Parts: sequence; structure tokens; C-alpha cells
Amino acid sequence: MKIGVFDSGVGGLTVVKSLLEHKLFEEIIYYGDTARVPYGIKDKNTIIRYSLEALEFFKNFDIDLLIIACNTVSAYSLEEMKEAAPFDVIGVVEPGVLALKNTIKNKDANILIIGTKATINSKAYEKPLLSNQYTNISAKATSLFVPIVEEALYEGEVLQSTMKFYFNKLEHPDAIILGCTHFPLISQAIADYFHGNCTLIHSGEAIVEYLEHHYSFKKRFKNTELKLFASENPEALRSTAKKWLYNL
Ligand code: DGL
Repeated sequence: MKIGVFDSGVGGLTVVKSLLEHKLFEEIIYYGDTARVPYGIKDKNTIIRYSLEALEFFKNFDIDLLIIACNTVSAYSLEEMKEAAPFDVIGVVEPGVLALKNTIKNKDANILIIGTKATINSKAYEKPLLSNQYTNISAKATSLFVPIVEEALYEGEVLQSTMKFYFNKLEHPDAIILGCTHFPLISQAIADYFHGNCTLIHSGEAIVEYLEHHYSFKKRFKNTELKLFASENPEALRSTAKKWLYNL
């Protein structure tokens, strides 16, 4: 199976990492809209317009499925993209909600959703969780984590004080939905902040679980061909991919 992965920038590589680890696909075409990132501070119409433009890019390839790695795009443009696409399109929100449901059975558990401003404002995670009778949900836009990850500050003072700034007034969560592509890169620091005893839901792992459940994978691919494209500076994307995917 040949698939596309779309993100607003480099962050979606965290989802690619999970896809590669599970060897699900023969070929992955990745496109990051690096010229216009971040999407998380844009309004709904702009996010939809950019997403539909990205869809045109993927129409040049003979893909069977498009995975939207970006939480912001998944929150705002999934229906529009599905309607306009000649292939299947799946986002990360539904898989994230399912992963939470599979892990957290107690409906009174304290669930924290973090993401970009746009994702949090959309209530894309909150609504399905509420309709699944989860009662104790809080949501917080933690947009500063995006540039912190882009600067590779995965630990240290800047990250610590930003976590304190966002989290110090919150009750200790039982589970956190990492509702942004970048956050898996600081998941260890977030887990440590909460002394390790809290479940983290990661979009990449959630989507793998979802795919394994909804598609039949007859074969695993030892070597997935990964083609990386970006709307600006593809070299920077490729060098981030070397670091994030292969620790080079
Ligand atoms: N990819 C975005 C997300 O997962 C984060 C970066 C952005 O704001 O574009 O929401």
C-alpha cells in the first residue's frame, strides 16, 4: 500500500516514525506545508483552504490512503478533504479518542487535552469524549511547545518553565492527549513533570492502532520507501527527518 502523510510542517514526522516502526506501508509520500506553518494560530477558513491545496499535491501520486498527521487539520478540514479526495482520508482525532477509550475505562478519570490554539478552540477531542460519557475533561492550548520542539529544546530550563507556566494550576491528570504533532518529542519531559503516573496518548501510536483495526495488512515491509516533500526548504525537512526518524 502506498500512502500520503500530510502535516502543516515537520511535526508529522512523529506520526511517520510510528508508521515506519510498524512496517505497515510499502511507500510513504510526506508533504509538509513548511512555507505556511504554523496552522495552529490560523482561522478555520484558512486551515481548510490550505488543506485543500495540499490535497491537490497528493493527487499527483497514486496513493491509496492519505493520513492527516496534523491535529489542527484533522480538527478542521477532515470532512472537506474526504469529500474532495479520490482516495481514503483519515485524521488523527478519531484514532486518538479511540486510543483513550481503549486505555482509560474510568469515565471520571481526569483527562487533559493539549494542542494548538486552533485544535483546542475546535473542541474536536472534547466533543466525542463528552459524548462517550467522560465527565472530567480539561483542555489547554500549549502553543509554545511547538517552537520549543522546533528549537530541539526537548529538555532543560525553557521547557521546564513553559511546562510550569501551562500546568501548575492544573489538577494532576490521569491521562493527557498529546493533541499536536510536536508533543511526542517532549512526551518524556511531560511524563516526568507529572511524576510518570499519567497515561499519554500519542497520535502516531493511536493511528497505528486504528489502522491495524480498520485495514488488513497481509504483509509487513522491511524497508518503507519514504519520499519527503515540503512547500519550502525541503532540505531542512530532510535533515529533521534524519534526526527524528533515524537519530542521525
Ligand atoms: N501540526 C500542528 C498540529 O498537530 C502543529 C503545528 C502547527 O501549528 O501547524 O496541530
